[in-house]
Amino acid sequence: ASPAARGGSGPRCPALRPGADSRGLHAAARRAAKEHYEVLVLGGGTGGISMSARMKRRVGAANVAVVEPSETHYYQPLWTLVGAGAKRLAASARPTEQVMPQGVEWIKCRVARLDPDKNCVWLENNTKISYKYLIIALGISLHYEKIKGLPEGFHHPKIGSNYSVHTVEKTWRALQDFKEGNAIFTFPNTPVKCAGAPQKIMYLSEAYWRKTGKRSKANIMFNTSLGVIFGVKKYADALLEIIKERNITVNYRRNLIEVRADKQEAVFENLDKPGVTEVHQYGILHVTPPMGPPDVLINSPVSDEAGWVDVDTQTLQHKKYPNVFGIGDCTNLPTSKTAAAIAAQSGVLDKTISMVMKNQLPTKKYDGYTSCPLVTGYNKVILAEFDYAAQPLETFPIDQGKERVTMYHMKADVMPLLYWNGLLKGYWGGPAPFRKMMHLGLK
Ligand SMILES: Cc1cc2nc3c(=O)[nH]c(=O)nc-3n(C[C@H](O)[C@H](O)[C@H](O)COP(=O)(O)OP(=O)(O)OC[C@H]3O[C@@H](n4cnc5c(N)ncnc54)[C@H](O)[C@@H]3O)c2cc1C
Ligand SMILES: *[C@@H]1O[C@H](CO)[C@@H](O)[C@H](O)[C@H]1NC(C)=O
Ligand SMILES: *[C@@H]1O[C@H](CO)[C@@H](O)[C@H](O)[C@H]1NC(C)=O
Repeated sequence: ASPAARGGSGPRCPALRPGADSRGLHAAARRAAKEHYEVLVLGGGTGGISMSARMKRRVGAANVAVVEPSETHYYQPLWTLVGAGAKRLAASARPTEQVMPQGVEWIKCRVARLDPDKNCVWLENNTKISYKYLIIALGISLHYEKIKGLPEGFHHPKIGSNYSVHTVEKTWRALQDFKEGNAIFTFPNTPVKCAGAPQKIMYLSEAYWRKTGKRSKANIMFNTSLGVIFGVKKYADALLEIIKERNITVNYRRNLIEVRADKQEAVFENLDKPGVTEVHQYGILHVTPPMGPPDVLINSPVSDEAGWVDVDTQTLQHKKYPNVFGIGDCTNLPTSKTAAAIAAQSGVLDKTISMVMKNQLPTKKYDGYTSCPLVTGYNKVILAEFDYAAQPLETFPIDQGKERVTMYHMKADVMPLLYWNGLLKGYWGGPAPFRKMMHLGLK
């Protein structure tokens, strides 16, 4: 099949009209021969935009291009607060054009196929683009359709999901309309981005119902596929305290497999008892969807068996193709997939690429730093920060395992500024220098 035929179901590139004649395709092929960039970036999300800003400084804007079909760039971490009515959706969005570093070419199209042996990629409209260096930042895909009854079920009331821009505002409506019954929050049986988000939403909902006098009507349940509440013991212990105090039930190893939205029933499988399912009536259901690598990476030469970009855990250089690099949610880096992790990765990858460009061995090493502000109320956050070994790696010289108001302001007010003005502009490489400074200051 031609690359265009395998392009998937996403939006088409602007220049391609259905039934485009062969004259158009030939013209594209002629143009394609000229399409070459020193640095080509796939994906214009968190990782792609921050790396394109950094690469612009290394090789000049005219030598960098970003392939990204979407007109809008979202600061996704804000969605936790949007669903709770604490922020508006618009505050998380900016036009892609505005975040694209000036002078960098925005190729408004989906990539359909990667051909690293020939140093080129194919766009969905059959255009070939070649590169000297390739940075893959395609993110993670949401798969609501893997749950029977979804996504159609979202047309019914009492169900929402903060994970997609299409359903996040609906979550807030469902939360406000809640009357009584089971309030079920789910966690899928796949890798996810920001593993804390599925429960942050629950804590905010609990706080909202308490504020509006409905708390006693809600039987709140967190049904998670995991065997623990959080992967780092220090924070897991703190969360379990909160869960006890707020009378929330946690059911481990439960995976949502079906939603009967017309009857408001959720069907779970018990991962420890194959074949055993449980059906639960809900008053509100918050779905965290199964996730996986973007289609274009599945069975691609740059991917591991599961479909994640196969990179060195310390340098972020591809294990097989030395001129290919990966960053963020689409990689197989064994750490929690977050924007905070990408900040730290972007600083390391910038150094790695500059060494590779000089034919030297990369030296700077990524330690797996990632961070998850666990929002536990309308003004409270436990700021979890940790590394590959799941050991806390905290920036501030205070116990971050406690719920703190200061950390809520970090999450709601400081981090968005740092995102738009620091990370996306290629100036924020994570808090490591501050951590050293602040901890030194105390000793
Ligand atoms: C509800 C929620 C809460 C979160 N909370 C936090 C938090 O508190 N702290 C934190 O640090 N992180 C948080 N995150 C995670 C964070 O947002 C992500 O980890 C981060 O944005 C991932 O960046 P990325 O560049 O890897 O992918 P993305 O930013 O998702 O970008 C991927 C891009 O690739 C594009 N793309 C996909 N396929 C193709 C294709 N075939 N061709 C071309 N382009 C393509 C997409 O359009 C997209 O723009 C949260 C996420 C969610 C959803
Ligand atoms: C394919 O899409 C790219 C990016 O939008 C565009 O530059 C190119 O002209 C398109 N080619 C064809 C044949 O439509
Ligand atoms: C805790 O929740 C359960 C189930 O919703 C309820 O029966 C019980 O009364 C609650 N206990 C307290 C102290 O609120």
